Amino acid sequence: MQREKFSSRLGFLLISAGCAVGLGNVWRFPYITGQYGGAAFVLIYLFFLVILGLPIMIMEFAVGRASQKSAARSFEQLEPKGSKWHWYKYLSIAGNYLLMMFYTTIGGWMLIYFYKMVTGVFENRTPQQIEMTFGELMGQPIVMTIAMLLVVIIGLVVCSFGLQKGIERVNKVMMCSLFVIMLILVIRAVTLDGAIEGLKFYLLPDFSKIAENGLGNVIFAAMGQAFFTLSLGIGALAIFGSYISKDRSLTGESINILVLDTLVAIIAGLIIFPSCFAFDINPGEGPKLVFITLPNIFNQMSGGRIWGTLFFIFMTFAALTTIIAVFENIISFFMDLKGWSRKKAILINGIAIIILSLPCVLGYNLLSGIHPLGGQSTILDLEDFLVSNNILPIGSLIYLLFCVSRYGWGFDNFIKETDSGKGIKFPKWTKVYLTYLLPVIILVIFVQGYLSKFIFSGG
Ligand code: PHE
Repeated sequence: MQREKFSSRLGFLLISAGCAVGLGNVWRFPYITGQYGGAAFVLIYLFFLVILGLPIMIMEFAVGRASQKSAARSFEQLEPKGSKWHWYKYLSIAGNYLLMMFYTTIGGWMLIYFYKMVTGVFENRTPQQIEMTFGELMGQPIVMTIAMLLVVIIGLVVCSFGLQKGIERVNKVMMCSLFVIMLILVIRAVTLDGAIEGLKFYLLPDFSKIAENGLGNVIFAAMGQAFFTLSLGIGALAIFGSYISKDRSLTGESINILVLDTLVAIIAGLIIFPSCFAFDINPGEGPKLVFITLPNIFNQMSGGRIWGTLFFIFMTFAALTTIIAVFENIISFFMDLKGWSRKKAILINGIAIIILSLPCVLGYNLLSGIHPLGGQSTILDLEDFLVSNNILPIGSLIYLLFCVSRYGWGFDNFIKETDSGKGIKFPKWTKVYLTYLLPVIILVIFVQGYLSKFIFSGG
């Protein structure tokens, strides 16, 4: 059967950007920036997006487009005979599954907070009461499971309509609405009284803040965030490369997606930091930032219920476009690997995703005695750690080595694929950097991840 293609170039760009734009931009980026001291962190992060994220994104698209297959078969298609690159498929599928095992839970929280905002639950509550709402929610496994189920079912239903009629149509609408809502919110946030302090924190680099956190930790966090936000290392973008034709060069398309992804992250910060400073709330709260601080901020604003509702629609759409994209990757993985129909792949993987998402939900209540990484860590932390600090860097390294090594697909094949079509060509002078330096940089992140997790933090 002929492989289905996107109906338009815009569809490809928005769906890939939708995969990249997710909780990583609207939830993880602002809280990590808050924790690591603002603008100086943002600069280092931007640096890594370009020197590390961009080339790997191009490589993923190239492998997907050249093979016209998902990660289940793409390496088999391109590798030299007898080599074992295709073993990567197990890592890829494990990564996609593990990511969804916690992402669906956070997506569910966004949906619940959206509902709470619409129904005005937070109105007239004190900051302590709002803080308790989050804690109470964690103690309600049934509510959290229902929200998780809703998120999974929405994702599966969209995928069941196929690439053009399902994913492309729905994600395009969600991405366009997301941009509009984001612009409305950012205008509201930067015009608040006192917003200027937040803008200074966010936009004027203060390098002493880097020294406070330790340069190594800041660099590590920035690099990890670059992988996560661009969706690299598990074939989640490669799949969309397999749905396009060769009329545009991949470097140009990747730059477009990177710019969109970065804009959303930067603007999410422009919404959150001015609001925090205007209402004297600490931006370094960590993962709770959007769930505890922001409802408080909205409470103090006039028309807060409307702003809050818009904000959580924005969050929910960001999460959903990523979930739909990763589901599509998982589904086509099994269609390629086992020859299943779309329906069968959706049914079996849907059940598996629901069951596998339960530990994360239950980790906050029935299983809250389990601290897999020591301290107060949760099952979510373990799953996030396995994906973000292990599978994404290793997977990215495999794509990189495959594209530069003559034992893999090789640099010439990679360049030929990447450069076919109109648009910017890949700079070939980067070959030495990509072959010898970049792999070392990635390995360093990887090792650092372990050191900071298990030795420096004492956790
Ligand atoms: N990029 C997504 C986000 O920012 C997360 C993601 C990582 C998706 C890896 C797919 C693969 O939320």
